[in-house]
Amino acid sequence: MASRILVASILVFSLLETCYGGVQFSTLKRTLLINASPKPGELLKAGDMVTVTWGLNQSLPAGIDDEYKNLKVKLCYAPISQKDRAWRKTVNNLSKDKTCQFTIVTRPYKASKENQSFKWAIERDVPTATYFVRAYAYNSAGEEVAFGQTTDSKKTTYLFDIQAITGRHPSLDIASVCFSAFSVVSLFGFFFMEKRKAKISQKN
Ligand SMILES: *[C@@H]1O[C@H](CO)[C@@H](O)[C@H](O)[C@H]1NC(C)=O
Ligand SMILES: *[C@@H]1O[C@H](CO)[C@@H](O)[C@H](O)[C@H]1NC(C)=O
Ligand SMILES: *[C@@H]1O[C@H](CO)[C@@H](O)[C@H](O)[C@H]1NC(C)=O
Repeated sequence: MASRILVASILVFSLLETCYGGVQFSTLKRTLLINASPKPGELLKAGDMVTVTWGLNQSLPAGIDDEYKNLKVKLCYAPISQKDRAWRKTVNNLSKDKTCQFTIVTRPYKASKENQSFKWAIERDVPTATYFVRAYAYNSAGEEVAFGQTTDSKKTTYLFDIQAITGRHPSLDIASVCFSAFSVVSLFGFFFMEKRKAKISQKN
């Protein structure tokens, strides 16, 4: 009797775990096709436009998208830009995953043979890094149920770069070099003036 209760409670707990424990990325089906306008290796800056196009893989059986309610397209860090950066780490538990930190667009899911598209201007807070684009489909409970991405499963193909504009401008660097040279010169000038003054006052 006791062991039956134990087995039952373990079952209930593991069910609860799978229902409420956060969705694991590895359980998602790759059913969405998604394209982003940047060419592989292209370098973009804040303000540049990215067009994303998505749709269901039409060779999949009909009804596979019945539970899809919403769709979110996100900008995600490629592995090369995650290295040594725990705050961008990929975690299979999607509630802890830091791969895709920028939302490009959120839309109700549209079951259609036509692709959907959206034009996005790269925002100023996007840091310099290498990226790809991923779409998630959500069910009515708000859980991820499927995805699609512009890159392969190893995240090595069709990556593009974004250069943040917060970086220092070359002419600013030149200005600061000139300014430091000027300060060194004036410091020496001041030093010699003081020395001369000291000598003059010694003579008197
Ligand atoms: C996933 O992360 C969430 C939030 O930290 C946590 O509550 C949940 O238990 C985790 N799920 C698994 C299966 O590790
Ligand atoms: C679309 O789905 C079919 C059937 O599962 C699969 O063979 C094909 O690779 C998928 N296409 C893409 C681009 O993922
Ligand atoms: C939708 O996008 C996919 C992948 O880019 C493409 O193969 C397909 O032809 C597109 N479908 C339409 C209706 O444009």
